[in-house]
Amino acid sequence: MKKRILITRRLPDAVEARARATYDVVQHADDRQMSIEEVIETANKVDALLITLCEKFPAPVVAKLPENLKIISTFSIGFDHLDLPSLKARGIKAGNAPHGVTIATAEIAMLLLLGSARRASEGEHMIRSRSWTGWAPLQLVGRRLDGKKLGIYGFGKIGQALAQRARGFDMEIHYHDIMQQPPEKEKGAIFHKTLDSLLSVSEFFSINAPSTPETRYFFNTSVIDKLPKGAIVVNTARGDLVKDEDMIAALKSGRLGYAGLDVFAGEPKIHEGYYDLPNTFLFPHLGSAAIEARNQMGFEALDNIDAAFAGKPMPFALA
Ligand code: DGY
Repeated sequence: MKKRILITRRLPDAVEARARATYDVVQHADDRQMSIEEVIETANKVDALLITLCEKFPAPVVAKLPENLKIISTFSIGFDHLDLPSLKARGIKAGNAPHGVTIATAEIAMLLLLGSARRASEGEHMIRSRSWTGWAPLQLVGRRLDGKKLGIYGFGKIGQALAQRARGFDMEIHYHDIMQQPPEKEKGAIFHKTLDSLLSVSEFFSINAPSTPETRYFFNTSVIDKLPKGAIVVNTARGDLVKDEDMIAALKSGRLGYAGLDVFAGEPKIHEGYYDLPNTFLFPHLGSAAIEARNQMGFEALDNIDAAFAGKPMPFALA
């Protein structure tokens, strides 16, 4: 008999086909967001959950999961929506999908850098609002990327993939992380031992660190004030790394030149202050939204479930 798994959202065809070939899949055809109560209720009738970053499992939710449920795999690299100590205490195996997102997310970071530097959303708005009156020498003048210093905060796989792309635009790459990477991964990128040192040179600054108690809301006024005036910041990691009030104030005052943001604290509700700020380039969490990435993410999430049912360690187990 096939094991039953809940897949909380619709996934790419290839992923669903593989899941259905192996499992009895419980899923809503209409792709609506399930409430956490509904996920808990459904967990009574299945052997594993394949969830997304939108279903949150803090300790009180984990406590409500039924005893039969021992496997959770998340269709995301991020796992800040899972309380791992509580899952471990309950004997629930948890895994994520860490590799599929890399290139797609680095591409979106590159797009945000370019779109912010060259004021893409303002140009798009000028056309769509029918307010373009013609070419002008001083119209929507931005900045080139070449020769500029890009500071990458978090030099894991995505940070490194961004560096590789930014090198193609002749940017000078700087980074800060807990550890210095070996030369073959740095590929000439300049390591900064401290965040302050990285900030001091970053004409462009990209946030690529995970959301943890240490990084949450780190991007506040005191950090912003250490960047060169008019710096451009992009965030493709998690919204709660940024203190929105401080970012918005700095964008209004000109302390920051532009922000390209793919992620927001409390999304999909975003801070009201962003909506009318012209010097922002905003996406609805598109980082991994490329079919190649989404297929791989789905396969990685299923690999975890397959391994757990086979009594083996998940290939992408979360500690
Ligand atoms: C992830 O996988 O955590 C990403 O945020 C999804 O785009």
